Amino acid sequence: MPNKIKRNEFLKSLGFKGASLLAVYCGATSLSSCKNESVSPASAVDFTLDLNQAAYSALNTVGKYVIYNQVVIARVSATSFAAVTQICTHEGKPQVMYNGSKFYCTAHGATFSTAGAALSVANRSLTSYQTSLSGTSLRVYA
Ligand code: FES
Repeated sequence: MPNKIKRNEFLKSLGFKGASLLAVYCGATSLSSCKNESVSPASAVDFTLDLNQAAYSALNTVGKYVIYNQVVIARVSATSFAAVTQICTHEGKPQVMYNGSKFYCTAHGATFSTAGAALSVANRSLTSYQTSLSGTSLRVYA
C-alpha cells in the first residue's frame, strides 16, 4: 500500500516513538478503554460503535472513553455521551482525552467542557459531534 501513510512514520513525524507514544495516548489515566484505531486524519465523521464489542465496551461505564478515528467519545452520564475531535485547538496535538469530567489535552493541559468549549489554555472550542444510542449501537456523526 504505497500511498497509505505508514503508522510508524506518521507517529515519528510527530516526534513520538515507542513507549512514549503509548504514554501519549494511554498514560494519562489507567483506563483500559484507551483505543486508537487510526492515526490518519478524520474525514467526514459518521460511524457506529457496537458497545457490546470489547474494544468499545468502556463506553458502558460513566467516566470512561474510547478514541476512534481521532474522535474522543466519552460516557458522560448514565444516559449521555460526548464526542469531540482528538486534535487540540491549542497547538494541534492529537492528544485530547477525557479525564472523567471534561476533555483534557495531555500536551499542555488544556481543558474543554463536554460540549468542547475551551476552558483553559486553549482559546478555541474543539469540534464536537452528535451521538445517538440505539440499543448497543452508538452512532457518532457530524
Ligand atoms: S496542544 Fe493541547 S494543550 Fe497544547
